[in-house]
Amino acid sequence: PRILILGAPGAGKGTQSAKITEEFDVNHITTGDALRANKDMDISDMDTEYDTPREYMDQGELVPDEVVNAIVDEALNQADGFVLDGYPRNLEQAKELEDMTDLDVALYLDVSEEELIHRLTGRRMDPETGDIYHVEYNPPEDPEVEERLEQRDDDTEETVKERLRVFRENTEPVIEYYEDEGVLERVEGEQAPDEVWEDVKTTIEDAA
Ligand code: AP5
Ligand code: ZN
Repeated sequence: PRILILGAPGAGKGTQSAKITEEFDVNHITTGDALRANKDMDISDMDTEYDTPREYMDQGELVPDEVVNAIVDEALNQADGFVLDGYPRNLEQAKELEDMTDLDVALYLDVSEEELIHRLTGRRMDPETGDIYHVEYNPPEDPEVEERLEQRDDDTEETVKERLRVFRENTEPVIEYYEDEGVLERVEGEQAPDEVWEDVKTTIEDAA
């Protein structure tokens, strides 16, 4: 299937995408991870304000469309089924995506702002595997893993606030856009991860 997963920062897109990838044997295409792996790539030949993605990301701003569109276009060309996470984040990107591929379903993980802040400030990443944890909700069992966990650069309180503002301003219209298109499926994201997964899985099965 061709799945889009939408949601605010911290809604659980990465967490659920990992399960989707395993269950449905699709590629996980994530602009956030792709940009983090290329934070210092030189984008100065494009008509951008900053020379690398880092400046945008560490402030919680969107990286210019031109950069992100190219990443997604290339990844889609190499994928049959996919779960697309972190894109589109504004209406221009949504229009761009329309020219690149069709979608079977657009999932929206609905979570309150208070819970989002709690999730983001407590999130930890395993730099070796990329696995996502939370100090309270989902701590690792292996003490060796626990020791090497890192916080994401943009999970500071100030940047989190700006990311949420950018989401409301730029990405909420994208959710309305898919709602109008009739492909949006709202999932209650403020349940335990396994309960969210049950709903996500059934929704995909019903749509595919
Ligand atoms: P990106 O990496 O996409 O970040 P984001 O959208 O802010 O989303 P997150 O990764 O923070 O959250 P998530 O929904 O994946 O939640 P997770 O599963 O980790 O983008 C980062 C930056 O890159 C952007 O700010 C921008 O600069 C740039 N960028 C990316 N895409 C772009 C684009 N298209 N255009 C322009 N710029 C772009 O979960 C969060 C935490 O909650 C974890 O600790 C997890 O364990 C926990 N958790 C998850 N589910 C639950 C649950 N059900 N209950 C309790 N805890 C849970
Ligand atoms: Zn993510």
